[in-house]
Order: sequence, then structure tokens, then C-alpha cells
Amino acid sequence: QQNRMDVSHAIAVEEYVTFRGILMCKSIAENYPRVEEFEARPDDVLIATYPKAGTTWLSEIVDMVYQDGDAKKCSRDAIFNRVPYLEMCSPGMPSGVEQLAALPSPRLIKTHLPVHLIPESFWKNNCKILYMARNAKDVAVSYYFFQLAVKVLPAIKTWAEFLEKYMTGEVSCGSWYDHVKGWWQKRVDPCVLYLFYEDMKEDPIREIRKVVQFLNKDLEEEVLEKIIRLTSFKSMKDNPMTNYTTLPQTFLDHSISPFMRKGVSGDWKNHFTVAQNERFEENYARNMEGSLLSFRNEI
Ligand code: A3P
Repeated sequence: QQNRMDVSHAIAVEEYVTFRGILMCKSIAENYPRVEEFEARPDDVLIATYPKAGTTWLSEIVDMVYQDGDAKKCSRDAIFNRVPYLEMCSPGMPSGVEQLAALPSPRLIKTHLPVHLIPESFWKNNCKILYMARNAKDVAVSYYFFQLAVKVLPAIKTWAEFLEKYMTGEVSCGSWYDHVKGWWQKRVDPCVLYLFYEDMKEDPIREIRKVVQFLNKDLEEEVLEKIIRLTSFKSMKDNPMTNYTTLPQTFLDHSISPFMRKGVSGDWKNHFTVAQNERFEENYARNMEGSLLSFRNEI
């Protein structure tokens, strides 16, 4: 079973490199040529996010929509196997491209790539792409705790240090600003649905309806309600097929921070100092200048 990895390989700590201006794990950068030539199929669905923006949540929602809210079918495997991570490449594990080659259509695919690194075949085939964005401050906090828990990423010491790096885009997947803005420019493409984590928190039924419509599905009201229930934070935290607890602890240590950590909007207030918030706001204004893209930092 792929949802149990070869631990002896997984504990090797990754190195970061800068690839086309973006910091990423060395093995992912080296594997990029395989990703670039990835042959998307017209019925592939791509779920794109900056890390910690609600990728797993949206992935589970889309799989539920495809499986008509059938919890049993959605328990067929861990989320990272049902929705393979396109650019993923880590020693001792099949790469995302290899996993996808073995998956029957319609395939659901996860990516954290910035818009300009998406393989051309997705655009050529008019594949449906769902992008989910989350406010920069909650992403920062979520990302910090995730980095602490992931044992295979280079160690970071303090929240203050992480936040400085995050503001300048010196974190894996690069700048949050560039990511959300780059994808925002693509939202005019009818193949792209741009969603917000905060909207999903606020009114999941409204947002899931948008997803259903975008995917040209037609679901009964009671199926929609079932999906809302099954994809709530509580359900997904308790579900081993969505909460990442099937990964070995040497890879992801949930005792440091569970993958399903809090699942709220506005938790940044518990972590940013007043001074950090001021610096962040100033940096934010500079980076978002001229953009019509706006976020809610709490709901
Ligand atoms: P927190 O660390 O703020 O709790 P990703 O899947 O992109 O890595 O994002 C992980 C973040 O999404 C975590 O945020 C996690 O708790 C949150 N999340 C996962 N499932 C969720 C759900 N069903 N509802 C709300 N938030 C969810």
C-alpha cells in the first residue's frame, strides 16, 4: 500500500534550491522536467493552492462531489493517493507523475505550482482547475506549524524567523503574494474557478454549489448536505483517510502539530505580535499594491 511509505528513505532531510526563481525541495526541482511534459487528459481536474490554503479540504470536497457523497468510496485510500500531488518527488516514494500514470480517469490532481509552471497540457486540454486562496496571515501560521511537524523539511527555529522568510518568499513554493496574484490573473479563464478558504468557512453550501456547478455535476440537496457534514473540519480531523495520520511519524510528527490543526480563520491573532503585524501589513501593502485581489483576515 502506498499510503505507508518506506520509512528508511523518508527520514532523509530535503534540501531547498531556487528553481526558476522559486524556492523548492531539490528533488521536486530535479523532477520538474517530468512534470513539464506531463500529459494531462481532458477530464483531469487540477486542485491548485499555495501550501496551507485548504488543499486537503478542497481535495476531499471534489472527491466527494465525484463520488456522490459516498463516504465509503472516499475511504478507498488516503487523500494523498486519491488526489496525487503532481510535482511530488521524494526518495523512496513513487513520484506524483508515476502515481498519476497508474490512476484511472477521471483523475483529481493536486499542485502547489505557481501558475506559470503549470504544464502546458492542462491549458491545451481545457482541464478544469480549482484554485483555493487563503489569507496570508493564517497561511503563515499554518505553514509554520506544518514545517515544524514535517521532519523531512529543513528545520526552522522560531516563528519570528519563519515569518521573515515568508514575507520575502524564501519558503518552499515561493512568495504567497506571487502565487495568489499569478493565479488571480488566470481567473478570467473559464477553466479556472478561484475560491477562498474564508468563503468556504463562512458558507460551505454556497461554495460547494459553485464547485458542483463548475464541475458540471448535479447533486441532490441531501447529497450536498452530506458532503458538508463529511468535509467539516471535525469529520476530516477524525478521518484517517484525510488527516494524514497514515504517514509515518518520522515523516510527519502530529505530536508537534497535527496536520488538522485548527481549521479556523483568524488564528493568526494568537501568534503575530503587534510589531510583527505592523511589519507584515506594511510588507503586504507593498506587495499587493495595484491588485484588486482582497482577502478577509477573519470571518
Ligand atoms: P490550520 O493549520 O490553520 O488548522 P493544506 O491542506 O493546504 O495543507 O491546508 C491545511 C490547513 O487547512 C490547516 O489549517 C488545516 O487545519 C485546514 N483544514 C483542513 N481541512 C479543513 C476543513 N475541513 N475545514 C477547515 N479547515 C481545514
